[in-house]
Amino acid sequence: MSVVMKVGAVLVAAGSGSRFGSAMPKQFLNLAGKPVIRHAAEHLLDHVDWLQPVGDAQPILEALEDLPILPVVPGGATRQDSVRAGLEALERYNPDYVLVHDAARPFIPGGTIEALLAELRESVGAIPAAAVADTLKRVERGVVTATVPRDGLFRAQTPQAFRFETLLAAHRSDMTGSTDDASLLEALGETVEVVPGSDDNIKLTYSEDLVRLERVMSGFSVTRIGSGFDVHAFADARPLILCGVTVPHDQGLAGHSDADVGIHALCDAIYGALADGDIGRHFPPTEETWKDADSARFLRHAAERITARGGRLINADVTLICERPKITPHAPAMIARLAELLGVGTQRISVKATTTEKLGFTGRREGIAAQAVVSILVPD
Ligand code: CTP
Ligand code: MG
Repeated sequence: MSVVMKVGAVLVAAGSGSRFGSAMPKQFLNLAGKPVIRHAAEHLLDHVDWLQPVGDAQPILEALEDLPILPVVPGGATRQDSVRAGLEALERYNPDYVLVHDAARPFIPGGTIEALLAELRESVGAIPAAAVADTLKRVERGVVTATVPRDGLFRAQTPQAFRFETLLAAHRSDMTGSTDDASLLEALGETVEVVPGSDDNIKLTYSEDLVRLERVMSGFSVTRIGSGFDVHAFADARPLILCGVTVPHDQGLAGHSDADVGIHALCDAIYGALADGDIGRHFPPTEETWKDADSARFLRHAAERITARGGRLINADVTLICERPKITPHAPAMIARLAELLGVGTQRISVKATTTEKLGFTGRREGIAAQAVVSILVPD
């Protein structure tokens, strides 16, 4: 019978980032569409039963909104104090294992946590570490004073994994201060195992690290798709605006805004792909501001939501469903307008039309329906 081990995680985010030097501490800066700390939190939550963040509650709660985390506890003067605070808070849940991770390390390579936890079946501690590749020099006052043999030297990273009781006891007995957790166990003569570290597991320390991390994260995007649907009834004495283009016709469409059914369906497809609500939530029809509003504005907003997430539109496909007017002659202008509003090339946009063979409300020429599908590339 296999026993399922319970795993907690301590995510330390109480540092001020003095070497990085931004007004907002580095762990809360935006990286590839979300706060630095959120990248690691989402990854850890795939593997742990409890996630204990440590630091200032307000920015942490904002950055980790909607994630199932434990109540934030305040950090201490040093990293070691902050980890200790997190461990003390986790104790009541009785985890078997604990992962300790720096909020300033947004990228945890796939397989790292599995490898660490596997080591804990035999050992009390395991860390990811990468061999040093550069020749090491000791430098004093800008001058090389020695070459340090690099044989057997590794760079320690996080997450570091431990049997919970062992690490908590080590923290309670050690007052000397150290920059990682494994060293506390080493001092007690315990064996700490090593699993392969990665050059992509970058700790955001200096401002130039942000550019390197952007490059790493951009390699880990996913394609998301969304669909949208909308209907508006024909109405007299209104212009007919479809996909941002005014189409000559004896009727327009009824609606609170300009009733551009094509753009509305397209916006909902984008919001859908981002799991970001719908057009009615972003632009409530009860608000006077949006009366007769140019729907171009809605589409620009949807496009901005893609950019804010560090994503880009791969393609969009809009289908207008009506007997009249004929859409095909206007399709190129519609494609050009949608591409302009979305800030992409026209090759990414399709607008096509169909009838319903005189069946149903569109067949009876009571209104126009539109459906849209989009795909978007976003950081995972
Ligand atoms: N940390 C912490 N409490 C502290 C100091 C650091 O929780 N008193 C956290 C940081 O928020 C970071 C991790 O420990 O996630 C690694 O520390 P480091 O990279 O040194 O971050 P800072 O201490 O914030 O940066 P600096 O040393 O440049 O001031
Ligand atoms: Mg520090």
